[in-house]
Amino acid sequence: MAIKAFLLPALAFASTVLGQCSTDATATISASGEASAIASCTTFDGSIAIETGLSVPTGGDGHQSLAIDGELTRVTGNITVTNAVNLATLSFASLKRIGGFELSGLTVLSSLNCPQLSQVDQLNFTALPALSQLSFGNTGIQTAQDILITNTNLGSLEGIDQLQKVTTFNVNNNQQLTNISLQVTSIGVSLDIEANDESVSGLATSFPLLETATNMTFRNCSSINLPALKNVTQKLGFYGNAMTGFAAPNLTTSGGLIFVDNTDLTNISIPQLTSVNGSYQIANNTLLKVIDGFPKLSVVTGALDFNGNFSEVNLPDLSRVAGAFNMQTSSSNFTCDAFDKDHDNKIIRGKYTCQGGLAKPSGAGSTPTSSGSGSKASGTSAAGHMDVNYPAVLGGTSVLAGLLQFIL
Ligand SMILES: *[C@@H]1O[C@H](CO)[C@@H](O)[C@H](O)[C@H]1NC(C)=O
Ligand SMILES: *[C@@H]1O[C@H](CO)[C@@H](O)[C@H](O)[C@H]1NC(C)=O
Ligand SMILES: *[C@@H]1O[C@H](CO)[C@@H](O)[C@H](O)[C@H]1NC(C)=O
Ligand SMILES: *[C@@H]1O[C@H](CO)[C@@H](O)[C@H](O)[C@H]1NC(C)=O
Ligand SMILES: *[C@@H]1O[C@H](CO)[C@@H](O)[C@H](O)[C@H]1NC(C)=O
Ligand SMILES: *[C@@H]1O[C@H](CO)[C@@H](O)[C@H](O)[C@H]1NC(C)=O
Ligand SMILES: *[C@@H]1O[C@H](CO)[C@@H](O)[C@H](O)[C@H]1NC(C)=O
Ligand SMILES: *[C@@H]1O[C@H](CO)[C@@H](O)[C@H](O)[C@H]1NC(C)=O
Ligand SMILES: *[C@@H]1O[C@H](CO)[C@@H](O)[C@H](O)[C@H]1NC(C)=O
Ligand SMILES: *[C@@H]1O[C@H](CO)[C@@H](O)[C@H](O)[C@H]1NC(C)=O
Ligand SMILES: *[C@@H]1O[C@H](CO)[C@@H](O)[C@H](O)[C@H]1NC(C)=O
Ligand SMILES: *[C@@H]1O[C@H](CO)[C@@H](O)[C@H](O)[C@H]1NC(C)=O
Repeated sequence: MAIKAFLLPALAFASTVLGQCSTDATATISASGEASAIASCTTFDGSIAIETGLSVPTGGDGHQSLAIDGELTRVTGNITVTNAVNLATLSFASLKRIGGFELSGLTVLSSLNCPQLSQVDQLNFTALPALSQLSFGNTGIQTAQDILITNTNLGSLEGIDQLQKVTTFNVNNNQQLTNISLQVTSIGVSLDIEANDESVSGLATSFPLLETATNMTFRNCSSINLPALKNVTQKLGFYGNAMTGFAAPNLTTSGGLIFVDNTDLTNISIPQLTSVNGSYQIANNTLLKVIDGFPKLSVVTGALDFNGNFSEVNLPDLSRVAGAFNMQTSSSNFTCDAFDKDHDNKIIRGKYTCQGGLAKPSGAGSTPTSSGSGSKASGTSAAGHMDVNYPAVLGGTSVLAGLLQFIL
């Protein structure tokens, strides 16, 4: 078989007539000749890097354009493009499958064309402030393990929204991103969505087919749609989101479950939830007045920690809370009667705190501090109940917040 070796200054790889190319080192593209040499390979066994100092011709505006448009359909290793600060247009016309695809620090990149691309193991797009859309063709990427998209100008994730399955999915700090809608059915390890579209109204998210996940964290979203979610094994957390309601009609079990600082939230509804295998925290959701969306919740294996501004909490099916139980609210007509009973009946087994009419309702481990005069409503129920031997030394909320994190 004829073997050709390309030995341009930065590039060294072997190639057969069948277009099978390989290198043990990373092939580096710094000029057009190298790009065309690589474009003539069908499969490239190894990694390719395009780096700072790319010496392809620049246009009048100083911008560069690079096309690797020949036969190249598959790269087994990574394609890495970092800090090519004048690169405005990049295309891989035939590329279908890559190992890692890392684009980072490409300050003027505005056009990325990979019309055949459907499979990437790791997609890592970081600091691409001019990139507003992905041109990944009709189906786009359908299979990926890890997706990280941070600090881009993307207005949508069109191009990866047909993804069926993903292991880690982390999309944060994309100021123009207003909508994420994915067709995934499972999240193998983690999903993190945070700080996108901060200047506007927050990112809308929708996962209509998602059934199982390990960890999921949603921050700063305007809506979160998880209609098919059944089971989260480690942690499901919602922090600082702007949605007014949250519903997970099919969720039966979760690991730690957390709702913190969702300041517009008035209703949480998880009607099939039977167990929280971890801690359950609802804190600082100021408009959440009635917590009655867990009619079947039976077991919480960690702490149950609700604090805020609610006047009513109903947990009618509770049969076991293994960790601490902390319920503190500013509402003066809150009644602890039902939980006092649960405590007496050993349904609540850990440290027990329940009190309304508090100036500063706080988290598990804190000692409720009443707001001077008139804060305690009359009647024993509103005054609440605490375990008498509660260790005062644990009053520091930050220490306990830290401890709680371990439990969560
Ligand atoms: C591709 O990149 C990933 C993540 O940066 C790295 O772990 C892996 O070793 C790289 N693969 C090759 C073939 O260089
Ligand atoms: C993604 O790329 C950034 C920037 O190059 C790097 O710091 C980070 O480690 C990469 N992450 C992964 C998961 O490869
Ligand atoms: C969100 O994006 C998906 C595709 O990415 C699109 O189908 C859907 O209409 C968008 N939703 C909104 C509210 O813009
Ligand atoms: C899930 O999240 C928890 C808490 O943030 C973390 O300790 C754990 O390692 C995560 N699990 C996975 C599989 O990422
Ligand atoms: C919720 O679960 C029911 C019963 O398993 C199922 O019929 C329904 O399709 C699920 N809803 C969604 C949106 O997947
Ligand atoms: C939840 O998912 C895990 C992992 O897929 C599985 O082991 C467990 O049985 C599921 N639990 C329920 C109640 O479906
Ligand atoms: C995003 O959420 C975090 C809480 O997780 C909050 O501290 C931050 O202020 C939020 N940002 C915006 C812009 O709402
Ligand atoms: C919360 O939403 C559920 C489902 O939409 C509804 O049945 C319930 O009445 C609502 N609860 C409150 C307190 O608004
Ligand atoms: C509950 O969580 C523990 C520790 O994370 C894990 O070992 C156990 O399998 C989980 N149980 C269920 C039913 O998911
Ligand atoms: C709730 O808000 C109070 C007051 O701003 C703060 O001290 C506390 O840490 C917050 N709790 C959580 C769980 O974020
Ligand atoms: C409780 O809610 C009332 C009315 O919605 C509001 O005026 C008050 O500031 C809230 N208190 C706290 C501690 O969030
Ligand atoms: C408690 O007071 C609030 C107003 O402060 C009221 O909306 C609510 O109905 C009262 N709840 C009960 C159980 O009395």
